Amino acid sequence: MSTHNVWTHKGTFLLAAVGSAVGLGNLWRFPYLTGENGGGAFILVYALTIFAVGIPILIAETMLGRNSRQSPIMGMRYLTRTHNTSRAWESIGWLGAASAFLILSFYSVIAGWAIHYTWQMLTGSLSGADAETIGAGFDALLASPALLTLYHTLFIIASGLIVAMGIHRGIESGLRIMMPALFVILLLVLGYGVANGDFGAAARFLFTFNIADLSLEGWLAAMGQSFFTLSLGMGAIMAYGAYMSSEASLTRTAVAVAFVDTAVAMVAGLAIFSLVFGAGLSPGQGPGLMFVTLPMAFAEMPLGALIGGVFFILVLGAAISSSISLIEPVAAFLVERFDLTRPQAVTTMVVASWALGLLTVVSFNIYAEGTIFHALFGRSAFDFIELLTNIFMPLGGLLIALFAGWALTHAEVMKEMRTSETWFSIWRFLVRFVAPAAVAFVFLRSIPQIEGYLIPTIGALVIVGAFAAGRTFLIDHSQEQ
Ligand code: PFF
Repeated sequence: MSTHNVWTHKGTFLLAAVGSAVGLGNLWRFPYLTGENGGGAFILVYALTIFAVGIPILIAETMLGRNSRQSPIMGMRYLTRTHNTSRAWESIGWLGAASAFLILSFYSVIAGWAIHYTWQMLTGSLSGADAETIGAGFDALLASPALLTLYHTLFIIASGLIVAMGIHRGIESGLRIMMPALFVILLLVLGYGVANGDFGAAARFLFTFNIADLSLEGWLAAMGQSFFTLSLGMGAIMAYGAYMSSEASLTRTAVAVAFVDTAVAMVAGLAIFSLVFGAGLSPGQGPGLMFVTLPMAFAEMPLGALIGGVFFILVLGAAISSSISLIEPVAAFLVERFDLTRPQAVTTMVVASWALGLLTVVSFNIYAEGTIFHALFGRSAFDFIELLTNIFMPLGGLLIALFAGWALTHAEVMKEMRTSETWFSIWRFLVRFVAPAAVAFVFLRSIPQIEGYLIPTIGALVIVGAFAAGRTFLIDHSQEQ
């Protein structure tokens, strides 16, 4: 069993990358962050970051995967050897594996909430319920470790089974059904929102750009969201890139992934806010927007149980196609490095991540306070794990941009990108300077959330160190240009 195979079709990488990118980030996180941060202005910054930073790093990460044709860890080991660079760059692979493991642990718990709501919608138990009942229902869900664990377990097993079946039978065929179904259902919900909600108010809210509405916090949230939503800096895209056909165009594919991902977020935003404004609800609900506010809208509308059920199935499909991309890089590594079979590798990753997920489960109830995490970091285990990934992802993106920008030769990049000198120069300028600077900005800003100054200082040193490493270890190659 080899993991070094190639997707069956030239276009499958696009499908897989879109599957990875489109997830809870688009349907749940994007609308609530937009709602909290004043609408249009947030979207403007988000879109600018996607195009100036997201796409160049997306190209860089895919390039590293396709160039090495191995899992991120083994692939980076190969690249450091063939490019005569320090083995420290292998940390890109390890950091990615660590983030994948951490993200999967809580992503699965949150996706599990969608199982709960799918069930509640389809059985009609929320039909006609008032706001208070629905809010209390959400609180009751969070208060139950048993329910949360059940849903978390179901979700992670489903994701694991798909990856265990391999990239062709499992991931490819799964995506081929899931992605188109997802778009159809999303359009259906949008159609319903247009017909029955307040589409005009939603469009005004999302597309009236008043930059003065945006706080510094909002700027940073918009940039952070653009990394999370494109699945950058984690090795997920690198692992999928390793299976990408050599003929497929990198640049065009990256632009298409970013375009589809952004389009899905926009359509989700329009659909959700049409329903929210139509029901006279407030957009700035925070994380509860999808899981509390939408069921309220669904409870009031005719056919709400059906539309709501379909909507939460869509959320589940999007979350599964993202979570399989979190399992794949680690599983592929275990297969390559330890000669495990694919099912063994997937089981190892999934069981470990499932166990860690239990920490997230109890963070909402029995250990909502008073744990060692609160004592040491002033936050619950879940918030701490999420914070770690918020640091690891931009750091991974930064290192990927630096490695691709400085270590790969002109010829290698041109072979991958097959583009004009002008586009090459623009891309290289973006990954060498613009993307690292932007990431450093987000990175540094995300850290002071931990109180005190020690960690920001360490963060600054790490970033300066990364730049220094880029220059020092890669000097041979930068001279070739
Ligand atoms: N991009 C996914 C989303 O928007 O939900 C989340 C994600 C998936 C992040 C895979 C990172 C990753 F590697």
